[in-house]
Amino acid sequence: MQVQLDNEEAQVAFGETLGHVLQGRGLVYLEGELGAGKTTLTRGILRAYGHQGAVKSPTYTLVEPYELNDQRVYHLDLYRLADPEELEFIGGRDVLADDAVTIIEWPSRGEGWLPAPDLRLTLEVVAQGRLVSLAAGSDNGQRMLELLRSKVSAVSKEGSDQLENGVIQWK
Ligand SMILES: Nc1ncnc2c1ncn2[C@@H]1O[C@H](COP(=O)(O)OP(=O)(O)OP(=O)(O)O)[C@@H](O)[C@H]1O
Ligand SMILES: [Mg+2]
Repeated sequence: MQVQLDNEEAQVAFGETLGHVLQGRGLVYLEGELGAGKTTLTRGILRAYGHQGAVKSPTYTLVEPYELNDQRVYHLDLYRLADPEELEFIGGRDVLADDAVTIIEWPSRGEGWLPAPDLRLTLEVVAQGRLVSLAAGSDNGQRMLELLRSKVSAVSKEGSDQLENGVIQWK
């Protein structure tokens, strides 16, 4: 499944829908180069759970926990992770064991230590905004993608459009 996001507003709106689709749990990988829009998408996911406003990048702390109306969301940015084993020392095991939503930017830095995600999103900078490719990594992720697809048809009149190449344009 591929989604085209023309601007920052669409990026946040899509993230918010994705947040609802997760229904409070799941491991989400956000891949893509510097500036691809991973944190912006995370802002949308957090918004689905009631977090308004800015999202700071946990570049140095590596993990930022949120407690939103009894819902926990963990946002990790592993860009500066020197070694996957470091995840052990920052409480990675507790994060993964928690029944929560966990979003990981730069998961490639934790390869070998991190488990497979439910959803893997790959973000690319394109001429008109960003292109997001989504893939399921588990049965749960598969269900999440199906739910997301059903939301696309439900909002297709104003919220999204199917482009000719099968890419969904999110507005
Ligand atoms: N769909 C979009 N179209 C145009 N600009 C966008 C879109 N989504 C995000 N941006 C812009 O891209 C810039 C970088 O976004 P963001 O910080 O989310 O990237 P990132 O992938 O988290 O980068 P890093 O790897 O450094 O953490 C921001 O200025 C943001 O407003
Ligand atoms: Mg970021």
